[in-house]
Amino acid sequence: MSVILSPSILSADFSRLGEEIRTVEKAGVDWIHIDVMDGHFVPNMTMGPFIVETCKRITSLPLDVHLMIDNADKFVEIFARAGAGCLSVHLEGNPNIHRTLQVVRSLGVKTGLVLNPGTPVEASSAVVHLVDYVLLMSVNPGYSGQSFQPETVKRVKQMRSLLDSINPNASIEVDGGVTADNIKELNEAGADIFVAATSIFKHPLGAMEGVRALRKALD
Ligand code: DX5
Ligand code: ZN
Repeated sequence: MSVILSPSILSADFSRLGEEIRTVEKAGVDWIHIDVMDGHFVPNMTMGPFIVETCKRITSLPLDVHLMIDNADKFVEIFARAGAGCLSVHLEGNPNIHRTLQVVRSLGVKTGLVLNPGTPVEASSAVVHLVDYVLLMSVNPGYSGQSFQPETVKRVKQMRSLLDSINPNASIEVDGGVTADNIKELNEAGADIFVAATSIFKHPLGAMEGVRALRKALD
């Protein structure tokens, strides 16, 4: 499977959002990751459907929308309408996750299920047949710039074998602290979609170089 890079605009300079997105697009990234936080599900507030619509006008790349919000059911349709190409919802705190995933599927967007670092991989076994990808968080969600939790590598392997038995076409996305130092190991463990905010948008030589460094580490 070819690797997908999905830069998270959470670390982009929002005063130049268009320019930042065009830079990573030119660098050859595949998706644009948009972190939606509501101040309830996670202790931070970020972007809503308006930013998804804005990004849609800037780029034709698929918009990879990561919902870190309570009552995701109520909002999935709004985000799909705003232009999400991929929509991921958390397993945690959602008693109706099966229904939420079915609704996301019915909206015609790629369907993702997210697991926090503290959630056992097996907790997803009853619903992974409904997804296009599973997003394994490698930090506790809420902020960019946190350090990678090394046990994620083992969790990727566990998730790959669970998916191989239930939904072999599903991908694994990793989000949080992804750098040129850990991306190769994660790919070898079975992940093929990578989110990165800091290591791309805060790369000392610029976002273009950040993307190049991640691609090079994968060679
Ligand atoms: C964290 C977000 C991540 C974050 C990644 O809650 O889901 O997408 O932006 O940031 P880095 O790559 O800096 O860890
Ligand atoms: Zn994210």
